[in-house]
Amino acid sequence: MKIVLASGNRHKYTEMKEALEKIGIELLFGGDFENAIEVEENGKSYEENALLKAKAWAEMTGLPAMSDDSGIEVDALNGKPGIHSARIVPGSDNDRIKWMLTQLKDKTNRNAHFVSCIVVVFNDGRENIICQKKCEGKITEKISGNTGFGYDPIFIPTGYEKTFAELGDEIKRKISHRALAIKGLAEKLKVMI
Ligand code: IMP
Repeated sequence: MKIVLASGNRHKYTEMKEALEKIGIELLFGGDFENAIEVEENGKSYEENALLKAKAWAEMTGLPAMSDDSGIEVDALNGKPGIHSARIVPGSDNDRIKWMLTQLKDKTNRNAHFVSCIVVVFNDGRENIICQKKCEGKITEKISGNTGFGYDPIFIPTGYEKTFAELGDEIKRKISHRALAIKGLAEKLKVMI
């Protein structure tokens, strides 16, 4: 069985591909499609946004489509930036990291968590599959590490002393919000294939 990932984010693709391979599913990278589409994420939750992206890609490709919508929620910012994590300030990931460090300047509570909601939408009448998980941790005071993407260089997962960007993909594929969500999703997919 083949499922297309409704995203051009290669980091997300490498973080999810292996868990599906284990159950005999090939994940196709959305960025490899010539007619790749950008879907406006105007939903009010991770689930709504993930469904918007997966539905559009299932329709466009005629294949089952998978989408991850994710974000970071910071306690001292009342859960912000949440679903707006990718766009909270214009520019690059680095600009958003700088924004976050400025927001948290002098804050002692640095607790935060990542959220990932992964959905699969079929185009043959089968019900959508949805799995949402969290990864708890804290925001550092400075940038460390150079792997991964987004807020990885300033997020230390609970139980570790290094950022996701220092820990690297292998650990991220075991403990991250996306790793937990894709595992849960694979359990549900297994009984359908
Ligand atoms: P999405 O592509 O709309 O789901 O945007 C998710 C955004 O949340 C990303 O652009 C990052 O800013 C942030 N994010 C989600 N997951 C991660 C992660 O695993 N590491 C770092 N940042 C993440």
